[in-house]
Amino acid sequence: MVIGIDIGSTTTKSVVFYPDASFKTQITKAFDPITSATGALGKILMDNHLEISSVKNVVLTGAGASGIGGQLFGIPTTKIEEIQAIGLGGMYLSGKADLIIANLGTGTALVEAHEGNIIHIGGTAVGGGTILGLAKAILKISDLDVLFDMAGRGRIGQVDLLIGDIADSDIGFLKKEMTASNFGKLLDSAKDEDIALGIFNMVYQVIGTVSAFAAKSRNMNTIVVTGTASNVSIGKRILDAIADIYNLTFIYPDHAAYATAIGAALSQKQ
Ligand SMILES: Nc1ncnc2c1ncn2[C@@H]1O[C@H](COP(=O)(O)OP(=O)(O)OP(=O)(O)O)[C@@H](O)[C@H]1O
Ligand SMILES: [Mg+2]
Repeated sequence: MVIGIDIGSTTTKSVVFYPDASFKTQITKAFDPITSATGALGKILMDNHLEISSVKNVVLTGAGASGIGGQLFGIPTTKIEEIQAIGLGGMYLSGKADLIIANLGTGTALVEAHEGNIIHIGGTAVGGGTILGLAKAILKISDLDVLFDMAGRGRIGQVDLLIGDIADSDIGFLKKEMTASNFGKLLDSAKDEDIALGIFNMVYQVIGTVSAFAAKSRNMNTIVVTGTASNVSIGKRILDAIADIYNLTFIYPDHAAYATAIGAALSQKQ
C-alpha cells in the first residue's frame, strides 16, 4: 500500500491507499515539517494497524514537504509537486476530467486539470487563514467552532453595504440582497456575530469570484472545491450564491479536505 502525506501550512492530511483502492484518512497538526511527517505517518500506521513492511512508499506533498527527503521509519519517500497532487486528487474525488479545482486551504490555489495535463492557473492569498487571522485580530477568537456558531447568528446587513442600500431595485444581475461592498456599511450597532459573518462573507465571496472568473476564462462551468476550508457549510452557502450569479456550479466531493494527500498517493502505483 501507499501513504500520501500533504504537509500544508496549517494542517497535515494523510491517506493510506490499499491495493483494492479503498482508503483511510486522518488530519493532524504539528509545528514543523519533520514532526508533521513523522507524527502523521506514525499515527496512520498505528490507527490502522499497519506493518511498516507492508507500506511500499510514502508520497509527500504540500508546502512542508520540501525539507524532507530519504526514508521515513525505513520506508522510501518520494515527492510530488502540490499542484499536480491537487489536480490528481480533484479528478479522482469528483470522477471528472477537464475541470477547475479551487483548493481552499490557508490560501487558495486554482488548478485546471485534464487527463495528463495539470496546470496552475493562479489563485488568491485570501483563504482559510485569512478567516482565522481576521477573527483573531478583530474578535479575539481563535476557535473555529465558536466562530461558526457566532456567524450563524450574524446579520450581514449590519456589516456589508448591500445593493438594496444603494439602489431601489436590482442592478442587472445583482440582486438587492447581494453585497455591494464587504464591510462597506459596518453600523455602530454591529455585534461580534455580525462581524464574524462579514469575515466569512468577504473571504468566500473573494474565493468564489476569483474561481468563477478563472472558470469563465477557460470556458468551464464546473468548479470542484477541495481543501479543509471547503468543508464549511457557511462557506458553501456563500459560494453557491456566487455560482448563481455567474451560472456555474461548485461541486463539494466527499473527502475534499484530503484531495491533495489522495492525489499524492495516487501518483504512485498502489
Ligand atoms: N478542523 C479544522 N482545523 C483547521 N483548519 C480548519 C478546520 N476546519 C476548517 N478549517 C479551515 O481550513 C483552513 C486550512 O485548510 P487546509 O488544511 O486545507 O490548509 P493547508 O493545506 O494547511 O494550507 P495550504 O494548502 O494553503 O498550504 C484553515 O485556515 C481554516 O480556515
Ligand atoms: Mg493544502
